Amino acid sequence: MNQVPTIQLNNGIAMPQLGFGVWQVPDAEAAQAVGTALEAGYRSIDTASIYGNEAGTGKALAASGLPREELFVTTKLWNHPREPWGRDNVLREFDASLEKLGLDHVDLYLIHWPRPMREDYLAIWKTFEEIAESGRARAVGVSNFQPAQLERLRAESPLVPAVNQVELHPLFGQAELRAVHAGLGIATEAWSPLGQGKELLASPAVLAAAEKHGRSAAQVVLRWHVQHGTIAIPKSVTPERIRQNLDVFGFELDAEDMAALDALESGRRIGPDPQEFDA
Ligand code: A2P
Repeated sequence: MNQVPTIQLNNGIAMPQLGFGVWQVPDAEAAQAVGTALEAGYRSIDTASIYGNEAGTGKALAASGLPREELFVTTKLWNHPREPWGRDNVLREFDASLEKLGLDHVDLYLIHWPRPMREDYLAIWKTFEEIAESGRARAVGVSNFQPAQLERLRAESPLVPAVNQVELHPLFGQAELRAVHAGLGIATEAWSPLGQGKELLASPAVLAAAEKHGRSAAQVVLRWHVQHGTIAIPKSVTPERIRQNLDVFGFELDAEDMAALDALESGRRIGPDPQEFDA
């Protein structure tokens, strides 16, 4: 069994530093992929209402027979398609996610995108305060938030997000945002930690470190996350890769490797710009 270290969130809850992400995994395949991940030793699963696979994820959680307290389940509130979210809709969406997952609580509930042009994230956060208080989410946080939005929450709410889950990988390392998180006590979580498995995994710096340590390119990149203190949720539907991606605690990158990976920073996102994204 792989020993995954935990990160202590700002409300004292422990979150595994490496989890399994199911973005783009169809519901029909999710049960199998999540089942493989749980067998491999993952205990943290990251889904979202928009992924359409909360039901498949829930099936795998139930079928695993693992005690609930050993699991760490994250899901996310999707953007309202037409108008700002109100309290009732947010609570209804949250109930629907719990029902699909077959759970009475999640470990982490996130606002999926800030949509600053809608000006509703603060009101949503007020409802998240209620959800946190009810214990139906052990922690609440945000995703794709920028410093200005984090500052606004800090100014207007006593509740600091436990986590901000953002696009982050060596090609887009988010150094500035990570510093803001450190100042506010927010844990940094990386989506697409492998850069979606594209050019990042073929870059010379990553391949050189892989060769040096006798590891795969993906393992090197995940190790970079671990050593930066980031929570990472790699996605794969390939059983061999699912297992391989968890096996990153038996080697260490040295300062030179870390610097070479840091130097891959391109300043370019793969995914949408959160300031503009309004799906
Ligand atoms: P697949 O799901 O077909 O195994 P990210 O988590 O950064 O979004 O990356 C996910 C992408 O990276 C998927 O296309 C996935 O492919 C691929 N991937 C995941 N793990 C590995 C790995 N160990 N080696 C190569 N590619 C991987």
